[in-house]
Amino acid sequence: MKVLVTGGGGYIGVVLCERLLRGGHQVRVLDRLYWGRAPLQHFGESIEIRQQDVRAFDPSALDGVDAVVHLAGLSNDPTAEYKPDANWEMNAVATETLALACKRSGIERFTFGSSASIYDGLGDGLFDETTKVAPRGAYSQSKFAAEQILLRESCANFAPVILRQGTVYGHSARMRFDLVVNTFIKDALLRGTLYLHGGGWMWRPLVDVNDVAEAHVRALEAPADAVGGEIFNVVHENFQIRQLAMLVSGSLALQDRHVRLENAALPAIRRDYRCTNRKLADHLGFVPRVTVLEAIERILSFLPVESPLALAHPRYYNIEWMTLLEEIGASEAPFASVWDATPSPVAKIAALT
Ligand SMILES: NC(=O)c1ccc[n+]([C@@H]2O[C@H](COP(=O)([O-])OP(=O)(O)OC[C@H]3O[C@@H](n4cnc5c(N)ncnc54)[C@H](O)[C@@H]3O)[C@@H](O)[C@H]2O)c1
Repeated sequence: MKVLVTGGGGYIGVVLCERLLRGGHQVRVLDRLYWGRAPLQHFGESIEIRQQDVRAFDPSALDGVDAVVHLAGLSNDPTAEYKPDANWEMNAVATETLALACKRSGIERFTFGSSASIYDGLGDGLFDETTKVAPRGAYSQSKFAAEQILLRESCANFAPVILRQGTVYGHSARMRFDLVVNTFIKDALLRGTLYLHGGGWMWRPLVDVNDVAEAHVRALEAPADAVGGEIFNVVHENFQIRQLAMLVSGSLALQDRHVRLENAALPAIRRDYRCTNRKLADHLGFVPRVTVLEAIERILSFLPVESPLALAHPRYYNIEWMTLLEEIGASEAPFASVWDATPSPVAKIAALT
């Protein structure tokens, strides 16, 4: 298949492109390249890259395409709250534009990177895809709206699959250190201390980035009538945040690094929810299997553990990068060049320590 991956230059997108190529598929990336071209450099000529904003979608991006994986957009609460209008246009409106363009072009296969944060705010319970949800916050609400649009457009010739991804961990050539496991690894190396906000009792469904990529590929390759118009939670396991802190500190203890765990105040945005992956296992025969411990080891093998200052670079934190681009007047400028022009992380480290 030739697959168009929107957001293919992002944390999940890069790993998904690698998985698609390994599976013998062809890849075209459509991305605003918010994080520059560097994360895609290792692909060389093996993928096609179109630098484009999904809000100004050019249907020629679908020429010759058999399937679409839609990941582009703002990808967390802080950036969505910071730019709610842009968030709505990217995450909800652009999803509709893309779905309608696919239908016009006769592209049946489509997967969407939704979020399990849709389940937040429902109280205690293990939620599944039939749960009546009431998403809170700009990000989750826009993801839910996009889901509703896709379900509405689902028909005999258009088979969108909605993947409600848990909070992702693991290594990618476009690394994010603003996701809980990855953040704990960075904080452990930089500060030697992990802060457990509100004691770290909140629950989260977690999944490795390679398993997320695998879920998209399985959904694209499954018979359309088995998955079209369906929602699947993509989750390895549910964890309390303090468990994750213990897994990270324990992994570093094995490397003779002592990491302190400290209680801290509750954060402004508090997410607490659990969900099940049973439908994914039953319908797609896929159970996300990469454990948090395995991912921690892999991430550590890629990091400059003896000189971790580089991990504080704002390019690894979506909200910091977004506000930095604004500060330097580059919010709509050529992002790739800004990537290399950002200030040294050393100044930020001084503020952290
Ligand atoms: N990472 C997670 O934990 C997680 C969990 C659940 C859902 N998701 C969803 O999965 C998707 C991918 O997440 P990620 O972690 O890779 O995020 P990311 O921020 O690393 O990647 C998003 C990519 O989309 C691109 N993009 C953003 N706005 C765009 C626009 N208007 N036009 C074109 N391209 C644009 C960015 O340049 C970037 O390459 C997102 O939709 C996110 O909401 C992520």
